Amino acid sequence: MYIPEGVEVYLDEETVDGRIKALGEEISKDYAGKEPILIGILKGSIPFMAQLAKRISLPAEFDFMAVSSYGNSRESSGKVRIIKDTDYDIKGKDVIVIEDIVDTGITMTRLFEMLKGRGACSLKLCTLLDKPSRRQVDIEPDYCGFEVPDKFMVGYGMDYAQKYRNLPYIGVLL
Ligand code: IMP
Ligand code: MG
Repeated sequence: MYIPEGVEVYLDEETVDGRIKALGEEISKDYAGKEPILIGILKGSIPFMAQLAKRISLPAEFDFMAVSSYGNSRESSGKVRIIKDTDYDIKGKDVIVIEDIVDTGITMTRLFEMLKGRGACSLKLCTLLDKPSRRQVDIEPDYCGFEVPDKFMVGYGMDYAQKYRNLPYIGVLL
């Protein structure tokens, strides 16, 4: 297995994929009869969204947004900018925003403020990881893969300075 220097495996691939399968089944039940649109937040959500979407047994649609928050540092700047907006109008849609990790909560709080005025039928947040001990604003994910401690997580889409996104497990940066 490829484990780069400075990285330690925190949750192995089997554990992560098993949990994502369960999340997909939960979403499939909750959205029965609906056609949810999954909005992946680039780039970190890509592996999670790909895995999750395969476990959602409903006619789901895909869209993507890109927002800036961190640059190449480990700390959030507090400013959130939309770099790429959705391709389709979300009016009347059941929207599930797919994120890699909720840390201070600032990024998702700002994004939800922006999306709320767009007339979606429902708007929920599904994150692979949640770091509640770091929260600066009051936001709670509707679906969460794992709660993690205050450590810098990499892999399964998550990066440090754009590296490690391709690791098939969730690692901790030492
Ligand atoms: P927040 O605004 O502080 O909640 O930060 C959210 C964004 O920061 C996430 O979408 C990630 O891109 C990034 N981030 C926060 N914590 C980590 C981490 O532990 N590893 C990798 N990226 C992180
Ligand atoms: Mg992100």
